[in-house]
Amino acid sequence: MTTVVAQAPAKVNVHLGVGPLREDGFHELRTVYLAVSLLDTVTVRPGEGLSLTVTGEGAGGAVPTDRSNLVWRAAELLAGSAGVAADATMEIAKSIPAAAGLAGGSADAAAALVALDRLWGTGASRADLLDLAAQLGSDVPFSLVGGVALGAGRGEQVTPVLSRTRWDWVLGIAGEGLSTPAVYRELDRLRAADRVPDGAELVAAEPVLAALRSGPPAVLAGVVANDLQAPAVALRPDLGRALRTATEAGAAAVLVSGSGPTVAALAVDEHHALRLAGELAGAGVFRTVRAVHGPVPGARLVG
Ligand code: C5P
Repeated sequence: MTTVVAQAPAKVNVHLGVGPLREDGFHELRTVYLAVSLLDTVTVRPGEGLSLTVTGEGAGGAVPTDRSNLVWRAAELLAGSAGVAADATMEIAKSIPAAAGLAGGSADAAAALVALDRLWGTGASRADLLDLAAQLGSDVPFSLVGGVALGAGRGEQVTPVLSRTRWDWVLGIAGEGLSTPAVYRELDRLRAADRVPDGAELVAAEPVLAALRSGPPAVLAGVVANDLQAPAVALRPDLGRALRTATEAGAAAVLVSGSGPTVAALAVDEHHALRLAGELAGAGVFRTVRAVHGPVPGARLVG
């Protein structure tokens, strides 16, 4: 029986500048995405109708197995646009925690598009897949592209950029997730109350792009920034302690990943990342600690 397997990576936003709320309910972004070596695997086989099972991170709880899962919607969208029947047995083996600010759901959707395109022989072009990805979610196009990319619009307009060969990070993952819309709403509230800059001037991504191109980590450390960090910390005050813990453990830079609550700690090299991961694991403030590196490729077939 035909089995198709695809993998897609988690991401860290090394830069996340958020503009004002747009009329369509999204915020204009300037972001720099980095795909990191924490991968989800999507396996698809022929089936009658759609079915979905989830194993690993978030199985039996945080990750739905019905139509509300982005993988299910990706299958319906691809089938509809290609004019084929949406028939597949789908399985997600998750390593990327859900609702963590790591684009785990987007990674699954991107991997599903690539896998189902092969299973159904729909022959979608890269441009077709990117268009479907943008309809599924703001981060899904980047999950297809991977590597390092500048994100504009609501995040769905991605332009690949060059980067140094390898960046080492440690991800500190909290016990409970954060809802992305809730974090954006909190940002709007903090802005209305004049507690953070209003975002009328988007913080430029260029210094981060320049630092990513050539390093060293100390230069990148001086320019990373995330406008969603303040609202994430406001919603989850324990995050402030988690960020301090990572700084005190000797990370070169510390920031919240995307809408959080994952803490991304920059290491100067792989050896430093392993040492830092050990310290953070022992600190007792994170549920899971992972040493990762990037850039890595976007969604691709692996079997
Ligand atoms: O595109 P995605 O489904 O990931 O977005 C989830 C929610 O996050 C949106 O409904 C919106 O509330 C918020 N969002 C936003 N601005 C963006 C991206 C997401 O306000 N650029």
